[in-house]
Amino acid sequence: MQVDLGSLAFVDGGYLLVKRAIRRVAVGESISVAGEAEDLEVDLRAWCRAEGHRFEWQAAAGSARGQARILAGAAESERWAGAHRTTGEGEADEDAVAEHPPRSWGLAARGATIEAGTPDFDFQLTDKIEVWSDDAARIYQQAVAAQWDPETAIPWNASFELSDDLEDAVVQVMTYLIENETAALIVPSRFIAQLHPHFREVMQVLAVQAADEARHIEVFTRRARLKRSQLGRSTIGGQTSLKTLVEEPEFAIASFLLSVLGEGTFLSLLWFIERYAPDPVTATVTRLAAQDEARHVAFGLAHLSQHLAREPGFRPRLADAVRRRHDALRHTAGLNDEVFDALLLMAAGSWEHEALRQGSRRVLQLIQDMDEGRRKRLVRLGFPEAEAAALSALHTRNFM
Ligand SMILES: [Fe+2]
Ligand SMILES: [Fe+2]
Repeated sequence: MQVDLGSLAFVDGGYLLVKRAIRRVAVGESISVAGEAEDLEVDLRAWCRAEGHRFEWQAAAGSARGQARILAGAAESERWAGAHRTTGEGEADEDAVAEHPPRSWGLAARGATIEAGTPDFDFQLTDKIEVWSDDAARIYQQAVAAQWDPETAIPWNASFELSDDLEDAVVQVMTYLIENETAALIVPSRFIAQLHPHFREVMQVLAVQAADEARHIEVFTRRARLKRSQLGRSTIGGQTSLKTLVEEPEFAIASFLLSVLGEGTFLSLLWFIERYAPDPVTATVTRLAAQDEARHVAFGLAHLSQHLAREPGFRPRLADAVRRRHDALRHTAGLNDEVFDALLLMAAGSWEHEALRQGSRRVLQLIQDMDEGRRKRLVRLGFPEAEAAALSALHTRNFM
């Protein structure tokens, strides 16, 4: 194998040609490198020493030109001898997802060849069964395609004037929504940092979910402050309920409580607010948020269904989590009265008796719709009807 660098300096890219040539010969075989660049001998000699190749130089009499003979050493091939592919064991597919990716695979792209001896990362979520869904890639793509810009998607400049009471009601509902959206942002964000990046699509779904919640917080805050400088009230009951979500240490259980039960219930709530919104801004922000939430619920259902199909014994643990949360919140009020009253007034639209009667009926219908939605999703996860009804009844009165 012969490499002629001509006037190309070793450090100016000549080394790439030398590297390529030496990779093509076996250990113990030699290549020759010729060239007339200044320092070629010095550069080649240093490089060969660092890379473990044997080096001999023959200067051509009367010129700068010389020729090296390089005998390939074993260091490079030994370095990669213990390397392996970061894919599922025994899978023909180079992108196959492993059941238990080692922590030493670290941040390497799935399918990369990884040098032996890379450091362990402290990832906690390293079992495929706990996090994976075959739908994750599709859900991520949908989420990316459905991103909207708060600046242009919402008619911030639409002109409307509500009575003081109705504006107060909207501000109170927004205040409540912001607090709940904040919990919904923190929960997936916390798990992203614990998740083995080998489960790339799940990491991406959680990241875009957190971005969705950031947008929801933005638009609800902007609606609340559209006509007012002061926000509404936050209560002990609401915060205590959300604290149990934020502090749930197990991914699958947190995802069940947040995405299936909480965000599932929020879907009904957001569509309700959209329907009875007294102004176009409130209607638009809740509609756009509801569309995003539907994906969050879909991912929760997708990975939990897959988990339960492989490990049906996990189902009672989910049921226990609902009971535990209910017991922990037994002595709290759950939803604050101000939110409930604000929803009723919004659905009534005025203080007229008949309007209030209708508003009250609509809110009762909302509570029923929420319950029905939860039962339906629990049945989809394989809970028998009766247990689904019992668990739905134990869901937090704070909705999320
Ligand atoms: Fe949200
Ligand atoms: Fe969400």
